[in-house]
Amino acid sequence: MTGKDIIEKYIKFFEGKGHKRITNSPLVPIDDPTTLFTSSGMQPLIPYLLGEVHPAGKRLVNVQNSFRAVDIDEVGDNRHTTFFRMLGNWSLGDYFKKEEIPWLWEFLTEELKIPSERLYITIFEGTEGVEKDNESFEIWSKIVPKERIFWAGVDKNWWSRSGVPANMPVGEIGGPDTEVYYEFDNPHFKGCKGKDPVTCECGKFLEIANSVFIQYQKTEDVFKELPQKNVDFGGGLERLLAAVEDKSDIFKTSLFEPIIKAIERESGKQYKGNENSMRIVADHLRAAVYLIDGKVVPSNKERGYILRRLIRRALDNLGHAHSASSGQADVENIISAIVAECAKTDKSLSQNFEEIKNVILQEQENYKNVINVAEKIIGGADDNGTKQISADEAFKMYSTHGLSPTQIKSLGYIFDEQKFAGLMEEHSKKSKTASSGMFKGGLADHSELTIKGHTATHLLHQALRDVFGNELHQTGSNITSERVRFDFNLDRMLTIDELKRVQDIVNDKILENLPISFEMLPLQKAKEIGAIGLFDDKYEGEVKVYFIGGGSTGSPRPYSAEFCGGPHVDFTGKLNSFTIIKQENLGKGQKRIYAKVT
Ligand code: ALA
Repeated sequence: MTGKDIIEKYIKFFEGKGHKRITNSPLVPIDDPTTLFTSSGMQPLIPYLLGEVHPAGKRLVNVQNSFRAVDIDEVGDNRHTTFFRMLGNWSLGDYFKKEEIPWLWEFLTEELKIPSERLYITIFEGTEGVEKDNESFEIWSKIVPKERIFWAGVDKNWWSRSGVPANMPVGEIGGPDTEVYYEFDNPHFKGCKGKDPVTCECGKFLEIANSVFIQYQKTEDVFKELPQKNVDFGGGLERLLAAVEDKSDIFKTSLFEPIIKAIERESGKQYKGNENSMRIVADHLRAAVYLIDGKVVPSNKERGYILRRLIRRALDNLGHAHSASSGQADVENIISAIVAECAKTDKSLSQNFEEIKNVILQEQENYKNVINVAEKIIGGADDNGTKQISADEAFKMYSTHGLSPTQIKSLGYIFDEQKFAGLMEEHSKKSKTASSGMFKGGLADHSELTIKGHTATHLLHQALRDVFGNELHQTGSNITSERVRFDFNLDRMLTIDELKRVQDIVNDKILENLPISFEMLPLQKAKEIGAIGLFDDKYEGEVKVYFIGGGSTGSPRPYSAEFCGGPHVDFTGKLNSFTIIKQENLGKGQKRIYAKVT
C-alpha cells in the first residue's frame, strides 16, 4: 500500500460516511497576511468551526499539505518533519465522539489493516474548568482492552493552534483530544521499559491519529462552550504509512526511500551512521520544494526567511555549503528525486520543476557568497585553523548572514557557546512575540471588536471603490481588536479630502443600520452579480458571499457583496464609529490604511 493508496482509501471511506471532499488550501494562505503557512487542515476552517455555514455541508474530508516551522529543530529523529500531508475529517456540529472513534478504529484496522494489538489510546484527563473525557473512555473501552488506554494532561491531549490552554489567546478555539499510537516492536528502542505512549520519548510509540473535540473558545476568564460541538481529525500521511509498512523510521518508508537513496548517492555516504543529517536534508529540501511551488522565494523576512533557513540547513547537513567547488548537479539530483516522488500526489511540482530547481540552486550560490563575505568581515582562521570571536560576532553571523552555530564552528571559529545560546533565546522570544496573533486566518481573535472590524473592512473596501472606481481591490488585511489594517492597490496616496470622504461614507453606512447576511452561490453566479474578493478559479462548488444591505436578487441592491467566510455583525449599526488613523505607502502600487472601529 503506497502513500497515494492511503489517501484514496481515506477519502473514499469518509465519503462513504456522508463527507464532502474539500480542496486542499494553499500552503501559503491566499490574502491572509496574519498567518505564514497552513499548518493543519482545520486552519482554513476556523469560521465554520465557530458556527458559520460551510458551502459543502457539515461533514468534510480532505488531505491538507501542512508546514510547521516550529518543528524545524525536532527534525532528525525517527518521526518529525516540517512538511507533511494531513488526512483530515470534520464534523461541524454534526456527529461527535460516538461516531468518530469507531470510524477511526475501523479505518485504521480494517482499511489500513494495522494490527489492532499494536495500537494504544490516550484520552484527556481533564484540567481546571474542563472535565475528564469519560465519554471517550467509555467508547474506547468497548473497542480496545483497558490496559492499552492511558490518561494524559493538557501537554499531550489538548489541542489548539497555540498549544496548551495557558498559551491560547482570547478568542482561540480548541479542546480535548484522543490520540492513537502505534507501537514498534523493535529492540532498537531500549529506552522504554514500560508500555506507556504518554511518557515514552524514545520513538517506540508513534502518534498516528488525533481526534480533537473542538468545543471550547477561550474568553478573558473561562472556557466558553461553543454553540456547536465539532470534530477535527488529523493524521499525518507519512506516519500512517510508517505504521502500515511497520517501519520504525519514517524516512525508511516508501515515501522517503527514493529521496534518501538519492542523498546517499550524491553525498557518497551511507544512511546508516548519518541518519540525523540525512533526515534533515530530506525533510528540509522536500519542504523547500513545496514552499517554492507555493511561490515563496528565499529572503530575510518571514516566509522567505524560513525557506532560506531550510535550504541552508539542508546544504550544511549535506556538507555542501562552503565548498565552492561542490557541483550543483548533486543538489539538483536530490531535488529531482523529491519531485518524482511527491508529484505522484501533487502534480504541480513536476510542472514547476525548473523554477523550483533554479530557486534552490540560486540560494546555494547566495549562501556560498555569504560565507565568503562573513570570512572577509571577521577574518579567516589562524595558523592552527581556529579563531576566537565574541558571542556577539557569532550571533551576528547567525542573524544577519544566516549561518548556523554548527556552520560557524566548522569554519573554525571559537566562541562562548553559552552566551550565544542566551542571545538565541532572547531572539527567539522576540520573534515569538512578533508572530503571536499570526494564526487567526485574517482575524487576530474572534472578540466582538474584531468581528466589528471585519465588517468595517467590507465597508471600507466598498467606500474606496465608490471613490476610486472598481479597479481598486483589496490586497491584504489584518484585524485586531485594537485596529483594522487594510491594503489595496492605488498608485498614489489619498489626499486629506479623499480620506475624509471614504471615512464619511463608512460612517453613513453605519448610520443607515444596513442588514448583513450571506448566501451560498455558485461561483459563476457570485461573479455575475459583481461580488468582490479573491476567487479560486479552480473551485467549482458554491461560495459564500456576504451582503451588506440587500441580497443577490431583488431590491434593494446591496451596498457591498463580498466573497468571505465571515464572521460579521448582523447590522452595520452594531458599529458605533469608524475613524481612519493613518495611511502608508507600501510601494509597488499598494497603499495601507489603519482605522479604529468602536
Ligand atoms: N488539528 C489537529 C492536529 O493538527 C487534528 O493535530
